[in-house]
Amino acid sequence: MATATTIAKLPKHVGQTVTLSGWLYNSRSSGKLAFLILRDGTGLCQCVLEKTDANAELFQTAKRLGQESSLVVDGQVRADERAVGGYELIVGDLRVVQNVEGYPISPKAHGTEFLMNHRHLWFRSKRQWAILRVRSTLVDAIRRFYNDRDFVLIDTPIFAPSAGEGAQTLFEADYFGDTVYLAQTGQLYVEAAMMAHRKVYCFGPTFRAEKSKTRRHLTEFWMVEPEIAYADLDDVIELAEDFVCEIVQRVLRDHRAELELLGRDLNKLENITKPFYRMTYSDAVDLLHGDRAREKFESDLAAAKSRVEQLSKEINEKEAERTAQGTKKWKVEKLAQEIADAREELTDAEELVRNIPHHMELAANFEWGSDLGGSDETVIARLHDRPVFVTHYPAACKAFYMKRNLNDPRVLDCFDLLAPEGYGEIIGGSQREDDLDILLERMKEENLDTAPYEWYLDLRRYGTVPHGGYGLGVERTLAWICGLKHIRETIPFARMMGRIYP
Ligand code: 4AD
Ligand code: MG
Repeated sequence: MATATTIAKLPKHVGQTVTLSGWLYNSRSSGKLAFLILRDGTGLCQCVLEKTDANAELFQTAKRLGQESSLVVDGQVRADERAVGGYELIVGDLRVVQNVEGYPISPKAHGTEFLMNHRHLWFRSKRQWAILRVRSTLVDAIRRFYNDRDFVLIDTPIFAPSAGEGAQTLFEADYFGDTVYLAQTGQLYVEAAMMAHRKVYCFGPTFRAEKSKTRRHLTEFWMVEPEIAYADLDDVIELAEDFVCEIVQRVLRDHRAELELLGRDLNKLENITKPFYRMTYSDAVDLLHGDRAREKFESDLAAAKSRVEQLSKEINEKEAERTAQGTKKWKVEKLAQEIADAREELTDAEELVRNIPHHMELAANFEWGSDLGGSDETVIARLHDRPVFVTHYPAACKAFYMKRNLNDPRVLDCFDLLAPEGYGEIIGGSQREDDLDILLERMKEENLDTAPYEWYLDLRRYGTVPHGGYGLGVERTLAWICGLKHIRETIPFARMMGRIYP
């Protein structure tokens, strides 16, 4: 009897006969041999079926199986360095659960819109598979970090009576005739819980009606938000620093193979160690006005221009070869894929060439008091090889609950953590305003009606203490760790402006 196992466990079964169950990822065959690449959720394995007198019918069936057919295979495990995954199966028998015809996602190129519309199937592709495995570990690492340090998990509500961040990005819901909102943050609620448990965190989905279609914005994303009592801004920053180091190192330890498959430069992640850089918002403004930022923009622009040239040339050459007479069919397909990839990269490079001059202008004319934009964050982060804490933003840029700085009342005791390589803000946090009168003043400045926040104000009336916390967005962090261009691949089913299906 063959032992049922999975591809990930094949190293333990070399020489034995096992049963694998999965789906056909890809296949090719010659007159006497069929190579079936099986996918079983844990990995890929090449299954080799040799045609004999006894199995002619089975061989014909195997040869004709369509991509993503579900099947169960018995065979002997053999170590083979050349095979995908390092092992192969010499097939003895094969049972087809379902033979599939016309699977929509073929190995040839598809546009992103098409793939996003087929997200429920796109999952099965290698890269998507790798990303969501890393996500699962990232989420585990996040929970472990706080659980190991005796934080108490507090689940905060999703229906909220009032705004937690800015009023511009609220999703409304009808709550038995009353207008309520989908939670933008759990923070105000974890502040209440912090007064009971000292160190707490919430971790769940949050919602923002972001009307911009950027690479960094989802309308539904996951955020972890720790909150600690008797803490000042430095305490919060130190926690964030330890946290980011630990989750990055954990993913690196457990997912080298997946990160390599994604083409991630592992050195850049290995470099994520303490201490991170720290600068104030005012320093950041000087940096944007200075030569280093301008030079960075200029060299980026030059690089993008030469990339455009190089890619255009490459595409023309490949196009000529693809359409030339006598090019083999497999080569035509391979070239078509390469051309599609190059075109996508070309679009990105052309976009950079168009945008960088504008970004340069924004940076050079940046005025103290406005919020850092995506391109500003990108250039600041790109001038550093480790994450950067930007602290003490002007009050007008940030939420009402952040603590006003005692020495310079124009600014807040707050920070954003910018990930390197241009990934931008992955954490926003602050010490909280613990003084009832100043908090009321801030709410007035922001035109916030205090009535729905009375419960929150009670926290300043009964035993107020210095405290603070932050929120880390899972998807932006994962995009950075995996080196992805766009946030849409970091969550199983992305919700963005213009995207709610599937
Ligand atoms: O800076 P934000 O808005 O902070 C808060 O919500 C605070 N209440 C957190 C706290 O102090 N407890 O958001 C925190 C993080 C951002 O740094 C980013 O990583 C992520 O949440 N984020 C988004 N991710 C994807 N799509 C969006 N639209 C996001 N908006 C914020
Ligand atoms: Mg923020």
